[in-house]
Amino acid sequence: MNDIFRPGLLRGRHALLTGAGSGITRRIAERFAAHGATVSIVGRQAARCDAAAAAIGAAGGHAAGFAADVRDFDALSAAFGLARDRFGPIGICVAGAAGNFVAEAATMTSNGFRTVVDIDLVGTYNTFRAALPLLHADRADLLALSAVQSTMPTAAQAHVCAAKAGIDMLVRTLSVEWSARGIRCNAIAPGPVADTEGMDRLAPDGDTSWSRLLAGIPMGRAGERDEIADLALFLCSGAARYINGSVVAIDGGQSNLGSLPFGSMLRDSVRPQGRT
Ligand code: COA
Repeated sequence: MNDIFRPGLLRGRHALLTGAGSGITRRIAERFAAHGATVSIVGRQAARCDAAAAAIGAAGGHAAGFAADVRDFDALSAAFGLARDRFGPIGICVAGAAGNFVAEAATMTSNGFRTVVDIDLVGTYNTFRAALPLLHADRADLLALSAVQSTMPTAAQAHVCAAKAGIDMLVRTLSVEWSARGIRCNAIAPGPVADTEGMDRLAPDGDTSWSRLLAGIPMGRAGERDEIADLALFLCSGAARYINGSVVAIDGGQSNLGSLPFGSMLRDSVRPQGRT
């Protein structure tokens, strides 16, 4: 890919990312490593983390995988401790673990709702809280993965909307509490991103779902993982040194148009035709 940033933007920094075994956050990890960061890949599945780290190594970067579920604070703290012992204090921490499925609020179970809130919202808190004592003393940049659902009420996404809205407020609040420690805390809020497990879950049936989805995006296309990684790189670089407590939308304008096309497509995928 063509890199629009100065090479070595993150040289000498240790970046730790949760949920980085796959998808958007894995691409962010690859991008950070390409810019000189040493990268700790944390995720639920050890094999995925190790594979992501090995791919970075094969591309000339430095990375290692550490398995832990963001819902398990003690396991997460232990994994982060190993990462710090190996690569030094954490300079960048990205909370990227997420779960999603398409289900209306009236039919999902309480445990289904709680599971997504646990992974996304509590998992983001756990990630930042576990990293806090291990952060670089001079400067640290925290970044959360929110989504357009944090501001767009979206049918069949009550669990995700609630969790992501919570992430936005968590990030804004931490930016108030922790900035005196030299910590910036921001979030990015992508719309649909191509070639991700999330989109495979939301628009699984190919052309029909995709064309309905794209109709709800002013730019008429889904985002690319590299575009999200570019934004993450910028926000964790010195160029963003005065950005703190911001939730930056990266959605081709989708959130300005509203959730009706997206939400009705999702709702129709789980509701029998003709039922209200
Ligand atoms: N519709 C309704 N409820 C669902 C569901 C669906 N498609 N998929 C899972 N659930 C419910 C389960 O029924 C269960 O509730 P119950 O115990 O009351 O029946 C609850 O969610 C937990 O499911 P479980 O499979 O035990 O959770 P898990 O921790 O193994 O998996 C998920 C978490 C459900 C979020 C799973 O989709 C996942 O692992 N996702 C990770 C990857 C991902 O979603 N990536 C995209 C990010 S945008």
